[in-house]
Amino acid sequence: MCGIVGYVGNRPAAPVLLDGLGALEYRGYDSAGVAVHGCQGRIVVHKAAGRVRDLQAGVPVALEEQQDPLAPDGLHVGIGHTRWATHGAPTDENAHPHVSADGRVAIVHNGVLDNAEALRAALEAEGVSFSSDTDSEVLAHLVARASGDSLEDRVLAALAQVTGTYGLAVLDLDAPDRLVVARNGSPIIIGVGEDEMHVASDVSALVRHTRRVVHLDDGELATVTADGFHTFTSLAATTGKRPIEVDWAYDDYELDGHDHFMIKEIREQPEAVRRCLSGRVDRRFATAHLGGMELDARDCRAVRRVKILGCGSAYYAGQFGAQFIEEVARIPADAEPASEFRYRNPVIEPDTLYVAVSQSGETYDTLAAVQEVKRKGGRVIGLVNVVGSTIARECQGGIYLHAGPEVAVASTKALTNMSVGFALLGVHLGRIRDLSAAQGERLLDGLERLPDQIEAVVANEEPVLAAARWLSKAPSMFFLGRVRGYAVAREGAQKLKEISYVHAEAYQTSELKHGPLALISPELPSIAVVPHDELLDRNVTALHEIAARSGPVLAITHEDVELGDLARSVVTVPRNEPELDPILLTVPLQLLAYHAALSLGHDIDKPRNLAKSVTVE
Ligand code: AGP
Repeated sequence: MCGIVGYVGNRPAAPVLLDGLGALEYRGYDSAGVAVHGCQGRIVVHKAAGRVRDLQAGVPVALEEQQDPLAPDGLHVGIGHTRWATHGAPTDENAHPHVSADGRVAIVHNGVLDNAEALRAALEAEGVSFSSDTDSEVLAHLVARASGDSLEDRVLAALAQVTGTYGLAVLDLDAPDRLVVARNGSPIIIGVGEDEMHVASDVSALVRHTRRVVHLDDGELATVTADGFHTFTSLAATTGKRPIEVDWAYDDYELDGHDHFMIKEIREQPEAVRRCLSGRVDRRFATAHLGGMELDARDCRAVRRVKILGCGSAYYAGQFGAQFIEEVARIPADAEPASEFRYRNPVIEPDTLYVAVSQSGETYDTLAAVQEVKRKGGRVIGLVNVVGSTIARECQGGIYLHAGPEVAVASTKALTNMSVGFALLGVHLGRIRDLSAAQGERLLDGLERLPDQIEAVVANEEPVLAAARWLSKAPSMFFLGRVRGYAVAREGAQKLKEISYVHAEAYQTSELKHGPLALISPELPSIAVVPHDELLDRNVTALHEIAARSGPVLAITHEDVELGDLARSVVTVPRNEPELDPILLTVPLQLLAYHAALSLGHDIDKPRNLAKSVTVE
């Protein structure tokens, strides 16, 4: 999804900005561009549809040697953008930055302006000619035409006219020492360097320069100069934000010898799970210690229902969470796609604990669901990976996932840590209720066994690779699982679709004979999740039904399950505790999607049409 970078400092801005855009590539985009104060006292723009490396290759001399004669000595200022098309095709013209008709103001914008058409019509009626089809361009014209003594005044005046969402950075020839940035629904983060300042929509573009960052809140703006920043509200009142320290480093965004970020992140899971568990296993009381939840034992006892909200794979992790919490803590629990939640005017119950789950912490639909819960007086906590992200800050407490930065669009280690986070939450809620200490111990033991077991699954890549070879040739396939295994099947189908572009559908195994069985044939493979639990017999019966119709099967199962010739291929994982087994059963499906996509020659880390974090509706 769209990305923003900005720079004010003593280094030539263009290389810094292009480097920052490179760091944002993983988010998904279709065009890119930069704008800097140029040496002829004008704004120089370089933008094009396509990849950042192509943009980099064609950098004009004017951009490399830029230095604004009006700027204080040695100062360089610029902005950059990666665009993921929403309004207007991915063309050179529609790429950002956009410049005002008089050439004095340049902007980069993330988000969607709801009243852009009306504003465009009004500006055109006043004689302004547009050079793109984007909603964003109106902002450049509005800022340039606004009245006010300072750039800050003019940005405030322009923003007063727009409705919708924005993360915005503005460059102005009349204010050559600064950028003005603003946020409403789309992240803007300031990176505080030594005698230089950075701006980005994602912390990954900042950690190569600094770990000291400032997250703007919705409705907040900032002036950014080489020696500092000043944050203020839309009423021009100072907010006095202080920087926080992020613990992710530049190296975390390197491939480090792996072929792709996805496989790197799959292999990082044992360590990620250890980090998630660290300091949270309370052996004394056989429970989980979750300091950030902001709920005491009395609050937890008052919870009568748990409702989990997330999108895509985070929603499937939420399904695992609901199953686990209901089974272990005996609290009714369910998961719902956050993207649907607010549109059905949901009843918000005071004794329901709402849990938002998100890797990025920036998914717009999940954020909007959190805001809907809060608006109606509900209590919402977050299971979030990115520290300081919007959802993390919006929630009233929560559990950080500590998976480390996740770069591949296809989420793996963050999802595993979501499940671990839900398991900790389930044990915590259960031990405050009727889960015995012995049962608490059993589950904590299981959680602590997970890292080594995941390591063993990841090391056993060969059978998955062999299965991926025959499966990837199929145009479509089923993923089957039931009860604890259903979320596993859904996540397996999602992962395969995302990066291999092969059609896959997940069903409850129990639903097969109520319809989908009609499709079973030698041409339609099924990936069946068959744990050694109380439903094993039922699952085996379904495999017989598939075999009777000559449907080829890959079974993801446990070592002690004997399937004979019911499955063409079998991949086994070690057994943990039945409630936690879904976490291990998911890992071979990550590897399956990876190897299928690899054998089909796809761009694994940046699949077509998708973005890492979906910050628009
Ligand atoms: C996962 O592989 C997907 N890329 C996607 O479904 C993702 O889980 C979803 O968009 C939610 O993202 P979030 O966890 O950052 O909120």
